[in-house]
Amino acid sequence: MAPTALRPSRPAARDAPELDIDLYADAAIEDSAPAFAQIRDAGPAVWMPGHRLWAIGRFNEVRDALRDDELFASGHGVAANPLTNLAARGTTLFSDGEPHVTRRRVLMRSLGAKALGPIADRLDAEAEAIVAGLLGRGRFDAARDFSSGLPMRVVADLVGVRVSGERLLGWGSSSFDALGPLNRRGLRAAAGGLGMIAYSQRLSRSRVVPGSWAESVFEAAERGEISKREARSMVIDFVAPSLDTTILASTQMLWLLGENPAAWQRLREDPALIPAAVVESVRLGSPIRGFTRRLGRDAEFGGVRMRAGERAALLFGAANLDERRYPDPECFDLDRPPGGNLGWGFGPHTCVGIHLAKLEMAALLRALLAQVETIEIAGPPVRIRNNTLQGIGSLPARLR
Ligand code: HEM
Repeated sequence: MAPTALRPSRPAARDAPELDIDLYADAAIEDSAPAFAQIRDAGPAVWMPGHRLWAIGRFNEVRDALRDDELFASGHGVAANPLTNLAARGTTLFSDGEPHVTRRRVLMRSLGAKALGPIADRLDAEAEAIVAGLLGRGRFDAARDFSSGLPMRVVADLVGVRVSGERLLGWGSSSFDALGPLNRRGLRAAAGGLGMIAYSQRLSRSRVVPGSWAESVFEAAERGEISKREARSMVIDFVAPSLDTTILASTQMLWLLGENPAAWQRLREDPALIPAAVVESVRLGSPIRGFTRRLGRDAEFGGVRMRAGERAALLFGAANLDERRYPDPECFDLDRPPGGNLGWGFGPHTCVGIHLAKLEMAALLRALLAQVETIEIAGPPVRIRNNTLQGIGSLPARLR
């Protein structure tokens, strides 16, 4: 079902705007922008009867909802289907309150800015080698050859489970697919997602790499900070979101720089703009389209009445293109005022991998600035199809 028209004069069972769209149809996931615009235009909170979900797509409301984790709770899962919400219990992403705070603290010991200090040099060296290798090669695929290197060579290693990077990638994209509804794509992916969960449930300290992030959660369990069962589930917090997200964001960044030679030239003249380029790439790409929350109580939100137990999709990608927040939102603008965007979430569940993702993207950008004069996009981008992730899966490019 392609996005269809708003029905403004709906019988007022809910007294709320209603949009009969399939937010997870092939066309809507390859290019979410039209559906996102429909949702923002329809109102601050819009009922999607086909999905039995509220859609929240305006910047202010998505940010307010992310901030209020009692009303918009994650503890019953953030997927759009009950199977995944049951299967992935125990992760940091799927938790609230005290357990969430404790789990986050444990993860931050591996992923906080201070903990990542020692790997910065390794990321820089790998990024320089990736760009040097591409310079001599002519045409390459940016997603595979430029963006995947750091996640697959460095991050997969640091996670510390003894499976190949390719398998980790497969698990990651399946689990993001399985966070959508149980449409054909979601059902196909469920096996992959469940495979990852089954694998993690067999893990123990002796079965993961010494000194790795995975080991750190088992150490926390030995110290009594979390249970062994939580530790096994929390390995998923490292495995599932650490690769595809950053790969998509880095490909988006290269594409934007290739398509915007003036911005690339400004960066070459002023490398202090690197952080702005990284953040703006994540805003425009929003690798995670959105997650859902379960309403913790009856409430008025965005001018409508929501009921306890209903689900709302908080659409990071829609919020990041909200013209109410960003003048000329489709434009890659290095001068946007600081204050960021919702691509890494906001509030209590803000991405714990944000420092790592920024480090990786900045390392790639520094390597480009040191070695490359021109980024040429050599063909049209091919976008991925995933219920939850969005972005470019393949992009022909050349560096000179
Ligand atoms: C550009 C790359 C990335 C993007 C765009 C991204 C996006 C996000 C978003 C939007 C959330 C918020 C979820 C919510 O509110 O429900 C989140 C949370 C999370 N991310 Fe990331 N992420 C990225 C990289 C990473 C990396 C590299 C890791 C791990 C190494 C990671 C691990 C996590 C975890 C564990 C959470 C859950 C935090 C919590 O619930 O408190 N992410 N991410």
